[in-house]
Amino acid sequence: MNGTSDARRLGILISGRGSNLHALMDASAHGKLDARIAVVISNRADASGLDRARDAGIATIVLDHRGWASRDEYDLALARELKHRGVALVCLAGFMRLVGPALIEAFPNAILNIHPSLLPSFPGLNAQRQALERGVKITGATVHLVTGELDGGPIVLQSPVSVLDDDTVDSLSARILIEEHRIYPDAVRAVLSESWRLDGRRFVGSEEP
Ligand code: GRF
Repeated sequence: MNGTSDARRLGILISGRGSNLHALMDASAHGKLDARIAVVISNRADASGLDRARDAGIATIVLDHRGWASRDEYDLALARELKHRGVALVCLAGFMRLVGPALIEAFPNAILNIHPSLLPSFPGLNAQRQALERGVKITGATVHLVTGELDGGPIVLQSPVSVLDDDTVDSLSARILIEEHRIYPDAVRAVLSESWRLDGRRFVGSEEP
């Protein structure tokens, strides 16, 4: 397993371009994140993020979400693939599927998600548009543990981004993305450090990222 212990093996789930995947690959390749990406799984065959992974020699799997008897069946198939590759921590990186109990139970407190707002504001789709339309002056990016509540799990790390008067969804999304790429590797490092605990909904880490 290339010298990386099972406890530091990541599985990344994507559906699209995979820029957060790239940030994690970069951090891992440049020694900023002591973890190995064991597998990248996409529910879409045309996700361009798959090419980034393949180019870097990372194992990829396409697991189409269509045609399963139930969400549980699909999630169990995901869990099987991840376990088979010794994954300890699952990172959702633009994975456009709700994660159900079957996957959450297979990886308790070991699934992370990145979301383009300061949660609990603006959960769900189009978070940047929601922030613009609501007129907030500050939004940002959040990495959180995944629970059964949509975008509602314990927050690991957040970073604020100012909303400018002339922002469009695209310009705001681009500035938030810079923060996403910065905090996702930091959050993964914090969770892998294992020097954290949950206090109710609070993720309490003893290590500064
Ligand atoms: C990011 O904005 C992330 O916060 C959201 O989906 C987008 C994925 O982008 N969950 P990418 O595929 O990582 O470039």
